[in-house]
Amino acid sequence: MSAFTEANRKAFDELATIYNTKPWQQALSAQFTKELHTRRAWLGLTANSSEGSKLLDYACGTGVVTKALGADFTTIRGIDISEKMVELYNAAAAQSSGDERPVAVVGDLLSTPHSASLAGSEWRDFDLAVICAGFHHFESPGEAVQRLVERLRPGGQLLIVDFLPFDDEVDRERKLREQMEHTHGPGHDFPDMTHTIKHSGFNEAQMSEFYTAAGLTDFGFNLAAEASSMELKNGKVERWMFFAKGRKAA
Ligand SMILES: C[S@@+](CC[C@H](N)C(=O)[O-])C[C@H]1O[C@@H](n2cnc3c(N)ncnc32)[C@H](O)[C@@H]1O
Repeated sequence: MSAFTEANRKAFDELATIYNTKPWQQALSAQFTKELHTRRAWLGLTANSSEGSKLLDYACGTGVVTKALGADFTTIRGIDISEKMVELYNAAAAQSSGDERPVAVVGDLLSTPHSASLAGSEWRDFDLAVICAGFHHFESPGEAVQRLVERLRPGGQLLIVDFLPFDDEVDRERKLREQMEHTHGPGHDFPDMTHTIKHSGFNEAQMSEFYTAAGLTDFGFNLAAEASSMELKNGKVERWMFFAKGRKAA
């Protein structure tokens, strides 16, 4: 695991204890859920599509994607590098009532070599793989798309939910943090996560390029109905969520 990925693992393990405890975090999760749910038809998910179908919730965290889209799939698997996030995911999954419960494991498909535990057939041939709010935390996003595409069945789809570019905001946060630490010492109640962000958002052209390079077709891209608000280490910010889909050749 690279030093950057290790920093993500550590930061999200620590964040897990307060994940979804603050009103703005709950509002953001509810927004992801609602926006994902309203895109079921756009993704071709229908009441009849669930028989034998498989969902991969990659960088699953506590399972926002699983909760929003899980009812459309028979088999649901989550993967995350943070052990604490995986524990929260599996605790929530234990409460679910379907025939087959969702299961998440600790793993990293993006490192070389990949986690050995993800080598089996159980971790292949997904109908849909989704990365929600994880893509801007990955070291090499183009490579991440390729690694996820390898896990799709022919004709399967990749969906990435992330944010439009927010570079100014990250720069502002870094500067404010430096100032705060210099004058007052760290004091705000949300941890600084700027060191876990490799790319400050993506635009449609960048996403289309990643998807085309990975051989995906039927590219689709759209934005959430409203901006998303977050209360980060140094104050309130607004970001725009996007949804990017593409299909592996049949
Ligand atoms: C902002 S959270 C999003 C979690 C969840 N998908 C959601 O929407 O609430 C980002 C997640 O990405 C995970 N992550 C970061 N780098 C990863 C990697 N290389 N492989 C798997 N998971 C990773 C983190 O541990 C964290 O749980």
